Amino acid sequence: MKRDNKKLFNEWASTYNKDVKKTYLNNDYPFCGYLETLNLITDYVHEHNHHTVVEMGIGTGALSKKLYDKGHFIIGVDFSTKMIDHAFELMPDAKFINTDFKSSIQYMNNDSIDCFIFSYAIHHLSSYGQYSLLRLLDYKLKKGGVIIIGDVMRNSPQELRQLEKRYKDIWDTDEHYPTQEDYRKNLYDIYKVSYVETSHCAGVIVLEK
Ligand SMILES: C[S@@+](CC[C@H](N)C(=O)[O-])C[C@H]1O[C@@H](n2cnc3c(N)ncnc32)[C@H](O)[C@@H]1O
Repeated sequence: MKRDNKKLFNEWASTYNKDVKKTYLNNDYPFCGYLETLNLITDYVHEHNHHTVVEMGIGTGALSKKLYDKGHFIIGVDFSTKMIDHAFELMPDAKFINTDFKSSIQYMNNDSIDCFIFSYAIHHLSSYGQYSLLRLLDYKLKKGGVIIIGDVMRNSPQELRQLEKRYKDIWDTDEHYPTQEDYRKNLYDIYKVSYVETSHCAGVIVLEK
């Protein structure tokens, strides 16, 4: 039976931060490298002066809050109302769009966004769903804009399979983790793809328009 992610995240919202912290501190899949990943994305966005930032799957707001405090304009997309409630408490002046990734695009003007960020969120789409969404976001990005994705990820499908083997007892087979090689193969015609590893299971992909 297909998992109902919207329901799952509404139910998880109140304990999400605590649960993430626990696996992060244990250095375990899936959140090992979580803070390093968030910090790398924050530094990149801030250093490149990307003012208007859309976080897709903003959750409780841990990543966007760092940018909000540095003066960036945050637009948070999430289909979980409960997750947005937490993020809104942290960032009362941010804008929120309470719907799914694809539907949220209609509320954004073309060439209006400096940067899209995804933190542990894009893996909820199939690989095909990821590539088609990322192609649609291209229309919304300003010239020189970027998409930054932090997640459980590896450089190649082979390395991802090795990670899956290592964590076979707890591996989430409903999630679709990106690899740099697959992204490059499927998106090279519109984005320059680069990759940085942030832990033994996490990394960051940057897509430059
Ligand atoms: C694992 S959490 C990550 C939250 C946060 N970005 C972080 O780094 O902690 C994934 C988030 O994406 C949201 N989400 C998943 N699939 C979505 C979709 N198709 N459309 C909108 N939001 C989605 C969930 O509700 C959840 O808040």
